[in-house]
Amino acid sequence: MSEIKIPEVELNIYTPKDPVEVKVVENYIVTKESSPNYVRHITFDVSGTELENKVRVGQSVGILPPGKNEKGRAHKLRLYSVSSPTKGENGNPHLVSTTVKRTIEELENKIYLGVASNYLADLKPGDTVKMTGPSGKRFLLPENAKDFNYLFFATGTGIAPFRGMIMELFGDGDYKNDCSLVFGCPYRTDLLYADFFEKIDSEHSNFHYLPSISRESRRPDGSKYYVQTKLEDESDLLLPILKKKNTLIYICGLKGMEYGIYMELLKMGLNEYLEIRKELPEDLNEIPLDKFKRYIKPSDRIFEEVY
Ligand code: A2P
Repeated sequence: MSEIKIPEVELNIYTPKDPVEVKVVENYIVTKESSPNYVRHITFDVSGTELENKVRVGQSVGILPPGKNEKGRAHKLRLYSVSSPTKGENGNPHLVSTTVKRTIEELENKIYLGVASNYLADLKPGDTVKMTGPSGKRFLLPENAKDFNYLFFATGTGIAPFRGMIMELFGDGDYKNDCSLVFGCPYRTDLLYADFFEKIDSEHSNFHYLPSISRESRRPDGSKYYVQTKLEDESDLLLPILKKKNTLIYICGLKGMEYGIYMELLKMGLNEYLEIRKELPEDLNEIPLDKFKRYIKPSDRIFEEVY
């Protein structure tokens, strides 16, 4: 396998005590038509700041919402994954984007709006925000990114880094390895950036867009279409790629995906993606969901950002 060269990154150039003010340049909805969920693509102009050219895809930026919480303290910093490529949104190194879902919850007949996500979703071009970062150094593409095949798994706004990574891999027309994106969401109306991924899929035979819609139908055995079930359902496509020595797996989104993906990898005999820490039971289904980390850990071929 090619050596995985992890790039050096700058961290925390701006901190919560010393944030930088940046301007919003665009803010538009990326969920499909008629979705009851509002997920937005928001781009910031960081020109003239130390963030220009310094934010890599796979990193996050922090946002400090204005105002105070019910205890009278300043709202805490929220981290958002960058969804623009390292070269910047549309190749502009001063433009950094992120992907934000409005969080709306009802508790005891009252509606609660997530502070930071609704603050960001309401912003208009020209508005300014206080930003920190960049942060994160464990979810980057290797320096020699084009030497590898990729299997990306995302749920919900976990798609953000993969948008930028896929732009980076396919932007110059010289990526010859193979990349698949498995994206999980409840309904077709929750697909994010679908037009972009469908376009890359139609233009590049080495890109495969594999949406996995969980609540519209069931698999023949009655189970839900989850991202990990694609490993079995698309094994003709994915198994030969996963068997190659230069394939990496990236996972971003719900924590619950980890167990499901690890278990499928074990069932497919792809143990090289995992570090086995304890003897596995003959029946893999006996590996307990709440203690699976005692048995299996990701190897250096799996990158994760789960929450
Ligand atoms: P479901 O909620 O139908 O069980 P979003 O962030 O937009 O809500 O999407 C999250 C997606 O991940 C949904 O399709 C959700 O399915 C699915 N999901 C929930 N739990 C798991 C899990 N343990 N493994 C994989 N996917 C999951």
